[in-house]
Amino acid sequence: MQRAFGKQGFAVSTLGLGTGNIGDPALDETQVGALLDRALDLGVTLIDTARSYGKAEERIGRHLAHRRHQFVLSTKVGYGIPGHKDWTHGCVAAGIDAALKRLRTDYLDIVHLHSCPLETLQKGDVVRALHKARDQGKLRVAAYSGENAELQWAIASGQFGGVECSVNLFDQRCLEHALPLAQARGIGVIAKRPLANAPWRFAGRPVGDYCEEYWLRRQAMGIETHDMDWPELALRFAVHAPAVCCAIVGTASVEHLMQNKEYADRGPLPPERFEVIRRAFRVHNDNWRGQI
Ligand SMILES: NC(=O)c1ccc[n+]([C@@H]2O[C@H](COP(=O)([O-])OP(=O)(O)OC[C@H]3O[C@@H](n4cnc5c(N)ncnc54)[C@H](OP(=O)(O)O)[C@@H]3O)[C@@H](O)[C@H]2O)c1
Repeated sequence: MQRAFGKQGFAVSTLGLGTGNIGDPALDETQVGALLDRALDLGVTLIDTARSYGKAEERIGRHLAHRRHQFVLSTKVGYGIPGHKDWTHGCVAAGIDAALKRLRTDYLDIVHLHSCPLETLQKGDVVRALHKARDQGKLRVAAYSGENAELQWAIASGQFGGVECSVNLFDQRCLEHALPLAQARGIGVIAKRPLANAPWRFAGRPVGDYCEEYWLRRQAMGIETHDMDWPELALRFAVHAPAVCCAIVGTASVEHLMQNKEYADRGPLPPERFEVIRRAFRVHNDNWRGQI
């Protein structure tokens, strides 16, 4: 299933693949290649990566360069380039060139500033670097990945054609104001962490785990899954939330990838279930901030 990426002139698959997990150097190279191939074969054709995801960019380049025209490639920049201070014009420009090289392509579809602070956005240098690269044909959509005040500012600024933010059962803040505005402005929206990093895996509070905050919110909200399992409920909520163009699930497992595709294709949750989940978030919301 595909949707328009806002008014940016191209479509994306409603389920995308997040590659945070497949950057792990310990993973078997052949298995990673098989997973990436399988994603495209299944129609999961938005691949999201970042400079900071270990070997992910390099692996996407290695395994998918020959299928480049079959998928939408999203990456993130702003830091980690030797010889450049993070969050400068030069670092963003060099980050884009480095991504093109690692990903073995001559264009990137969506390039995000990877969660820089509001002051950095407002200063303008890094945004100008993105726009310059877009004007040079190195990328199609200048985008921002982040949450809260930064996300709201990025959307309102008119400088970005895409955003990436957390949308899941336990992280709904952006559904209130940010995403309706993004949609009205034709900005494409990628929902990250759509499974909320699967906090139901832990019987007790997973102190220090990435999903700890979501685990606590799950306890507070008291949502029931009824006839579904957690991944199905979570995915159908996030993939089909208003304004979301594509939800990127992170997985290193072909089995999970296939299951996720099937769940996403089952369509939106029945409206009354969607509303129960929205209400549970609003009622228990203890100034819950969007989680990077
Ligand atoms: N821009 C940013 O700052 C930022 C931050 C976070 C994430 N992201 C992007 O968003 C993507 C998704 O976020 P995420 O990976 O953090 O969180 P997520 O997609 O909510 O959850 C990923 C976790 O769920 C598991 N999983 C996937 N499918 C499953 C299934 N069917 N059943 C049970 N467990 C399943 C995965 O493990 P298995 O490997 O075992 O499947 C992994 O542990 C990332 O890969 C990345 O591309 C961006």
